[in-house]
Amino acid sequence: MEDTLVIILAAGMGTRMKSERIKVLHKLAGKPILTHVLDKASRLSNKIVCVVGHQADEVKKQMNVYDNLDFVYQKEQLGTGHAVMQAEEYIRGHNGPVLVLYGDTPLLRLETLQQLLQQHTEHSAGMTILTSYLDNPTGYGRIIRDESGILQDIVEEQDADSKTKEIKEINTGLYCFNADLLEEALQKLDNDNQQNEYYLPETMNYIREKAKITTSEVKDSGEIIGINDRRDLADAEKIIRKRINNLHLRQGVTLIDPDNTYIDADVVIGEDTIIYPNSIIKRGTQVGRNVRIGPGCQLDEAIISENTVIKQGSIILNSKVGSETTVGPYAYLRPETKIGYGCRIGNFVELKKTSVGSKSKVPHLSYVGDAEIGERCNVGAGTIFANYDGKDKHKTELGDDVFIGSNTTLVAPVKVGNFAKTGAGSVVTKDVADKTTVLGVPARLYRSN
Ligand code: UD1
Ligand code: CA
Repeated sequence: MEDTLVIILAAGMGTRMKSERIKVLHKLAGKPILTHVLDKASRLSNKIVCVVGHQADEVKKQMNVYDNLDFVYQKEQLGTGHAVMQAEEYIRGHNGPVLVLYGDTPLLRLETLQQLLQQHTEHSAGMTILTSYLDNPTGYGRIIRDESGILQDIVEEQDADSKTKEIKEINTGLYCFNADLLEEALQKLDNDNQQNEYYLPETMNYIREKAKITTSEVKDSGEIIGINDRRDLADAEKIIRKRINNLHLRQGVTLIDPDNTYIDADVVIGEDTIIYPNSIIKRGTQVGRNVRIGPGCQLDEAIISENTVIKQGSIILNSKVGSETTVGPYAYLRPETKIGYGCRIGNFVELKKTSVGSKSKVPHLSYVGDAEIGERCNVGAGTIFANYDGKDKHKTELGDDVFIGSNTTLVAPVKVGNFAKTGAGSVVTKDVADKTTVLGVPARLYRSN
């Protein structure tokens, strides 16, 4: 198949969002609205041009992960036709079809776009318009056909009389064009209408003289919802979450209550994992096989290995948890924490920037910050890693097979050697040698083990 050029219109501010941020950068299932469109476009094409205007620099910055993407700038938003004109140099140099998408229509399925392209190519059309039927077509351009069903015109809401407004077949605003014809048609476009805008659909007046114009219908009108305000955003969120959850269900993940499970786009979850209600799994998270999560957990950029249990109310941020481990209930793993294999992190334990070696336990009520804990250690209930002296943060290191008695305070920087122990209630201010027990406030040598 010939290469497709994709042009994405995203210059409008989206004032109805009532936001300081441009509409297409608002998030849907954890990723910017525009990213949803770009991810699909990238599957179809290796040449994408995005028309930007408002907050162009911010859009470029957030979209810099795509190497097949160029930007053109539309200084003033003079209409959809004018927006496409900004990409003229790309259209001129292009041989295959040109697909025009909106940056604010994120629910479109890849298959729908493939169907549009296929239809366009099969009919050797000059222009193929994606249409749909809406119970409430208000606001959309209406598709006008003659008695034999042949497309006559597209009339914008603002230019429509009351009879035209009754038509339920609408223009989704997405099209496929022959590049040469689009280029020529854009040069002929004027802004002689109610809104004094350059209407992209009007290119059909030129193209129909030279080639066939066809339409392709989206059966699921939910796909073409454009995000205009926060109501649309909430509706789209619901639709996309349902799609995401259905995908995981099909792939062997149990969701006890899919309506109350919130999984972002692009999250990876292994088979036989069970997720209990009210859990929130954010973008960048990867969960292995046979993991149990929830109820009411929050995972954000978390990597969880197989056979692990994340119990009720736990929060895991930008951290890794090994296999066969249990976390929670109500544990708080803050960024850059790494838990090994076969560990137990219990209730009301907070870890920050800490690594915990395999088979180690921090079972109850502890704060562990800036620490390295070796293997097979036991950190008793109520232990505090005092990492902050009021000015700087300091590190604590525990070797392997360390036993920290309940209610110990480890005043960093401090090291506790292999097989060392601290007595309950100790305040450890100096390093503890291998195979020794310390005790008291401040802790002193009690015996060699
Ligand atoms: C457009 C169509 C209408 C269709 C509807 C579907 C025209 C004239 N009308 O209507 O037939 O039913 O889409 O949603 O095309 N944009 C720019 N620069 C501009 C203008 C728009 O980048 O100068 C972008 C917007 O940011 C948005 C998209 O193009 O993402 C659509 O613009 P919008 O104003 O919403 O189109 P409508 O006039 O509603
Ligand atoms: Ca719109």
